Amino acid sequence: MINENSSIAIFGLGHMGLPTAALLAESGLRVRGVDINNKNVDIINSGHSPIMEPGLDEIVKKTVEKDLLSATTDSKEAVANSQIIMVIVPTPVDRNKKSDLSAVISACRSISENLKKGDLVIIESTVPPGTCQNLVIPLLEESGLKAGQDFKVAYTPERALPNNTLHEMTHNARVIGGIDSESTKMASSLYGRITDGEIIMVQNLVTAEMVKLMENTYRDTNIALANELALVCSALDVDAIEAIQAANHHPRVNIHTPGPGVGGHCLSIDPYFIVETALENGVDTPLIRTSREVNEAMPGEVSKIVQSALEDMGKTIEGSEIGILGVAYKGNVADARETPAKPLIKNFIKKGANVVVNDPYVSPDIINSWGAEIVDLKRALISDCVVLVTDHDLYLNIEPSMIKNGLIVCTRPVLDRETFQKGGVTFKGVGRR
Ligand SMILES: NC(=O)c1ccc[n+]([C@@H]2O[C@H](COP(=O)([O-])OP(=O)(O)OC[C@H]3O[C@@H](n4cnc5c(N)ncnc54)[C@H](O)[C@@H]3O)[C@@H](O)[C@H]2O)c1
Repeated sequence: MINENSSIAIFGLGHMGLPTAALLAESGLRVRGVDINNKNVDIINSGHSPIMEPGLDEIVKKTVEKDLLSATTDSKEAVANSQIIMVIVPTPVDRNKKSDLSAVISACRSISENLKKGDLVIIESTVPPGTCQNLVIPLLEESGLKAGQDFKVAYTPERALPNNTLHEMTHNARVIGGIDSESTKMASSLYGRITDGEIIMVQNLVTAEMVKLMENTYRDTNIALANELALVCSALDVDAIEAIQAANHHPRVNIHTPGPGVGGHCLSIDPYFIVETALENGVDTPLIRTSREVNEAMPGEVSKIVQSALEDMGKTIEGSEIGILGVAYKGNVADARETPAKPLIKNFIKKGANVVVNDPYVSPDIINSWGAEIVDLKRALISDCVVLVTDHDLYLNIEPSMIKNGLIVCTRPVLDRETFQKGGVTFKGVGRR
C-alpha cells in the first residue's frame, strides 16, 4: 500500500500532469516528473510552473524547495526509483480523426525497460476503450513481468477543468478501474491523499476508460444540439439564448450553450475515440459522428453571420478588417488547442479579409502561425467587424461606444444585445437575432 516512503514517477508534466505531480508532492510523497520538453523540465526545477494555472506556481515552488518534486528527462532513473508510475501524456487525433497514441506507447516502452515486481502503473491519459488491456499491458509485459501477478495496473480518467484545475483535482469524484481489485484499491488510496471527492471504483480498466469518453461525448452531443437549435432559432427570428434559458427551467432539461464551435484537448477529440473503437467492434455511432460534424461546422456558420452583417453595411469580407477577440478555446485560459478560432481566422483570410487578433493569454507564435496580426484591444475594436470568439473576462466590459465601426458579432452569450443596439451598434451572434 501507499506509505510516506512511496515514490512516484509521472510521465507528462503538462496541464494535467504537473498539477497532479505537485499535489501528490504536497501530500508528502516524493514525485519525479518525466517530460521530453527540456525547457519545461528546467522551469519546473527552478521552482516555477510553465503551465498557466491559478495556484500552481506556488505549490511547484514549495514542493521543489522541499525536494519533494523534481523534473527530469531521464525516464530510466525515475522509473527505477519509483514504486508508482503514472502516464499523463497527450493523446490527440490525427488528421483522419484516429487516435494518436504514440506518446502513450513511448512512455510505456520506457516504463517496461525498468519496471519492477510490485510496481503500480496508472494510466490517466484519455484513451480509446480497451487501450489499457490491448496496448498498455502488452507493452509493459515486454519487461518480462506479468500484469496482475508481478505488477499492478489501474486506469483513472482526469476530469479537471483548466483554470480551476487544483480545486477540481482535490474535490471532484474520481473513477478508478484496475486489472484486479488490488490495483484498484492501491490507486484509490493514492488519490485519496489528494482528493476529498468520492472515489468510485468500477469493475475493470475498460469501464473506467469508457466513463471518461461518455462524459465528454455527452457534453459534445449536447452542445451540438444547442448549436443546431440556435441555427433554427436564428432562421425563425427567435433568440436562442432566451429560449434555451427558458427551456432549462424544466426540471429535467439541461441544454448546453451554443457557440462558435467546440475546442480544447477533450470534447473535440474524445468522441472520436468512441467512434473508432465502436467501428472496430462492428457498431456504428451516427449520433456521435453527427454531433462532431455539427460542432465542427460552427466556425463556418459564424463566418456566414459575419458575411451577411457586413453585406448589410454595404461591405464584403474581402477587403474588410475583422477584429477577433479571443482565440483560446475557452475563457481566461491560454490553451488554443483545437480552438474554433483557428478555422474561423483561416477562412476570413482565405476570403481576403485583413484579420487582427487580440488575445493576451495565447502565445503570439500560435496566432502568427495562422497568418493573423496581433493587436491591442483598442485597435481590434476599430475593425469593420468585431467578432468575440472567446469569453475572456476582459471583454465583458466592452461598451457600445468602443465599437468604432458599429458592428459586433458575439459568438458567446456574454454581452447584452439590447445595450449595444441602444448604443447604435449592430449586434449579431450565434442564435441571436
Ligand atoms: N487539459 C485538459 O483539460 C485535460 C482534461 C482531462 C484529461 N486530459 C487528458 O490528459 C492527457 C494529458 O493532457 P494535457 O492537457 O496534460 O497535455 P499537455 O500537452 O498539456 O501535456 C502533456 C505533456 O506530456 C509531455 N510528453 C509528451 N510525450 C511524452 C513522453 N513520451 N514522455 C514524457 N512526457 C511526454 C509533453 O511534453 C507535455 O509536457 C491527455 O490524454 C488528455 O486528453 C486533459
